[in-house]
Amino acid sequence: MVARPLIIDCDPGHDDAVALLLAVGSPHVDLRAVTTTFGNCSVEDATRNALQILTLAHATDIPVARGAEGSIDGKSTLGNYVHGASGLDGPPMPEPGFDVSPETATELLRRTIESSTEPVSIAATGPITNVAQLLLDHPAVKDGIHEIVFMGGSTERGNHTPTAEFNTFADPEALDLVLGSGLPVRMVGLNLTHQALATPAVVERMAAMDHVVGRTCAAWMGFFGASYNRVWEFAAPPVHDPCTIAGLIDPGLIAWRDAFVAVELDGRWTRGTTVVDLHQRYPDQQPNVQVAMSLDAPRYWDLVLSAIDRVGQRS
Ligand code: RIB
Ligand code: CA
Repeated sequence: MVARPLIIDCDPGHDDAVALLLAVGSPHVDLRAVTTTFGNCSVEDATRNALQILTLAHATDIPVARGAEGSIDGKSTLGNYVHGASGLDGPPMPEPGFDVSPETATELLRRTIESSTEPVSIAATGPITNVAQLLLDHPAVKDGIHEIVFMGGSTERGNHTPTAEFNTFADPEALDLVLGSGLPVRMVGLNLTHQALATPAVVERMAAMDHVVGRTCAAWMGFFGASYNRVWEFAAPPVHDPCTIAGLIDPGLIAWRDAFVAVELDGRWTRGTTVVDLHQRYPDQQPNVQVAMSLDAPRYWDLVLSAIDRVGQRS
């Protein structure tokens, strides 16, 4: 089995944190680098959180570079209303055991891709600003990118606004650029991630693990779940971001559908909304995205929880 080279661009964030643990704990991916962006919290907090998560996971050899403070057009929509003041509220975290890289996120993305002997997959689990900036600054790097899998958008309703999902709302111009890049793109939207609920049974499996990593994940779900109940009346929180990594590790765990996808840039009430044409209603628009439609949730949680346990056994 050859582990797939992977970069995660993220805004940790409780569900980004579980995505990082899934990647670190899976033999099927080779996490080469982590880049951070504004989103769930400021990029400063997201960067500190990423260093702490990788320290918890004893993965301090994975370079982390700080990225965008705001969207391509200079706005900074933040999600602290869900993830708390630190962006990762809840359990105590270890102090970072290593320093952030002196490179920018786009420099680390480019260097990692250009130095790889095989094409690199990018999983974007926050506003996709860093990836868009990379394609703008270094278009030739496309030859080294296997695919981009992003958590964002939805075939149905949004969350940050009634129609727009948070990541796409935070930087719709960046997503528009990625959708038009010609690269293979897979979209993991709310329609999929709302099937990935951290139910009490799932949280109990985390809490029962005999190590600090499992117990920390259970506590993260406690904070994240309380936010999701308070804001959107969920009984259990949808753990969005690991779905992108799971889709890379085991594509058969998700049912995918080719579709034309666009993102609204101008609507007064609909800016950031993904328009997903599942039935070729725009006959002149060819499918440009593989859209995640249904999840084998028990298989997903077995994959995620076994990875968390592997990481925890190392601690
Ligand atoms: O809308 C959910 C997405 O926005 C997730 O990636 C979450 O971490 C936030 O970034
Ligand atoms: Ca995220």
